[in-house]
Amino acid sequence: MSLSPFPQSYWLASAEVPQFPKLTETLETEIVVIGGGIAGITTAYLLAKAGKEVVLVTSGRLLGGTTGHTTAKLTAQHDLIYDEYMQHFGREKAGLYYRANQEAIAFVRKVVEEAGISCDLVEEDAYVYATTEEGEQQVRKEFAAYQELGIPGELVTEMPLPVSARCALKMPGQARFHPVPYLVYLVKEFVNRGGRVFEHTEVEKVKEEEPMRAILAPGLEIICRDLVSCSHYPVYESGFFFARVHPESSYILAARAPGSLIPGMYISADKPTRSVRSLSYGEDRLLLIAGESHHTGEGGCTIRHYQALEKWARDQLGVSEFPYRWSTHDYVTTDKLPYIGRVSSKRTHSYVATGFRKWGMTTGTISALLFRDLLTGQATPYEELYSPSRFHLDPDVPGLASNVGTVAQHFAGAKLEWHWRKLDDLAPGDGAILRVDGRRTAAFRDPQGELHLLDATCTHMGCEVEWNEGDRTWDCPCHGSRFTYTGKVVTGPATLPLPKVER
Ligand code: FES
Repeated sequence: MSLSPFPQSYWLASAEVPQFPKLTETLETEIVVIGGGIAGITTAYLLAKAGKEVVLVTSGRLLGGTTGHTTAKLTAQHDLIYDEYMQHFGREKAGLYYRANQEAIAFVRKVVEEAGISCDLVEEDAYVYATTEEGEQQVRKEFAAYQELGIPGELVTEMPLPVSARCALKMPGQARFHPVPYLVYLVKEFVNRGGRVFEHTEVEKVKEEEPMRAILAPGLEIICRDLVSCSHYPVYESGFFFARVHPESSYILAARAPGSLIPGMYISADKPTRSVRSLSYGEDRLLLIAGESHHTGEGGCTIRHYQALEKWARDQLGVSEFPYRWSTHDYVTTDKLPYIGRVSSKRTHSYVATGFRKWGMTTGTISALLFRDLLTGQATPYEELYSPSRFHLDPDVPGLASNVGTVAQHFAGAKLEWHWRKLDDLAPGDGAILRVDGRRTAAFRDPQGELHLLDATCTHMGCEVEWNEGDRTWDCPCHGSRFTYTGKVVTGPATLPLPKVER
C-alpha cells in the first residue's frame, strides 16, 4: 500500500493557522461563539463587523476539527437531495435550500475578491453521476426536481472525469477553494475589530439563564447575553440533540495529479460514494478522492476504507502517489436538514448550528449569515427552514428511532460483548477492546511495544468506544467523540479524557 503512514490533512499541512491563548480567567461579553471551524469563525467575523462584542472559543486549535478535514467544495449540489427535500418539506423549502447555498457561495466569492485572498478559488461545475441503472433512475428523478424548482442543471452523458457513467447531472457555476487562507483572513479581521479568540478552551456545560453562562471549570466561566454553539456537536444539554443527530465518518486521499487537472467536482449517486475534485495551490497539483462514509464507530477496520479508495483511484484515475490522507467526522440530523437557529422558541439566547452532513463550507457560511441576521434583529428568509425546533413526522420518526436504537446498542449492548483476545495478542500498532482483569478495556500497543490501557467507556454519556485503526483513535459511535490512544479528547462532545487503567 502506498498511503502515507499517518493521517495528515493537506489543508493544515500547507497553510499556517495563527495561535491564540487559552482562557484562564472569567470574563463577560455580549456574545460567545463556540467553534473553531468555518461556522464559528464566519459568525464571529460577521457579528464583530456588525458592531457586536464577541468572544470566539474553541476546545482545540482553530480549524483543527471538521473544517480542517473537509474536501472544501463550495456547492449547492449536495449529492441527491432536492427530490427528497421536495417530498419531505415541500417545493418552497427545497427551493430556499438551493438559494441559501448559492448565497453562501456568492458571499465567499465576494470576500475573496474584495480582499484579494490567495486561496485557489476556482469556479467549477458540479456533477452527480450514475454508473448503475438504479443510480441513473435517481439522477433522472433529481433532474426532474431541478426543473420543478428552477435550479440550473443539465443532464449529460459525457463528463471530464474519466469514469464510465451512464449519465450525470451537472450544476454549473459552483466553486472550490483552500479554506485555510480564507478563514485565517476572517480571523485576522475579527481580531482587528476587537474580537477575542481563545483556543484549548473547553466549555463543559452551558447554564441557560439570563445572563447565559458558559462553564469552563469550577470558578471559570464566560458570562454573556447570547451564546452561539457552532461546535459540530451542540454544547447544550437541552434540545435532545443526542437523539436527533448522529455522527458519520468518511475518508479522503490526496493523490498527485498525473497530468493536467481534471475540471469539475464529482460525486457518485451510487454507493459506495466516490467524490473527486482537483486542487491547485502554490506548486501543488492534487486530486482529492473521498468517500466510504459510515456511521462513526461502525465501519469495521478503518484502514480498509483508505485501501478501497486507493484501489478505486488507481483503477479509475491512474494515480499512484498518495502523499496525504485523513478522515472527517460530521453530524447528520434525523431529516438530513441542518439545525441552525435558536435552540427553541423558549431559549431566546441559545443558538445552535449542527448537522451539516459534510457540506460544511456552504452550510457553515449560511449559519453565520443567519446568526448575523437573528442577532442584529434583521429578517431572514431561512429562519423557519433551518429551525432546530422543527419536527416533521414523516422523515423524523425513523431517524429518531434509529438514533436512539444506535445509542442503546452501544450503551448497553457493547458492555456485554465478550472479547477473547489477550493483551499478548496485540502486535505493535494494534488496538482492540479486551477484557483486562475482567474489565472492558481499550488497549493499544504502540510501535515501540508500550501498552496504553484506557477505560473503554466514553466520558460523554457512557457508550463504549471503538478502535479506529486508520487514525489510531478511539471513536464513540453514539455522538462522535474521539480520543487519542493516550485518552486525550480529540473531538467532543466529551470534555474529559478516557481514564487510564492501571495494572
Ligand atoms: Fe456521547 Fe460518547 S456517549 S459521544
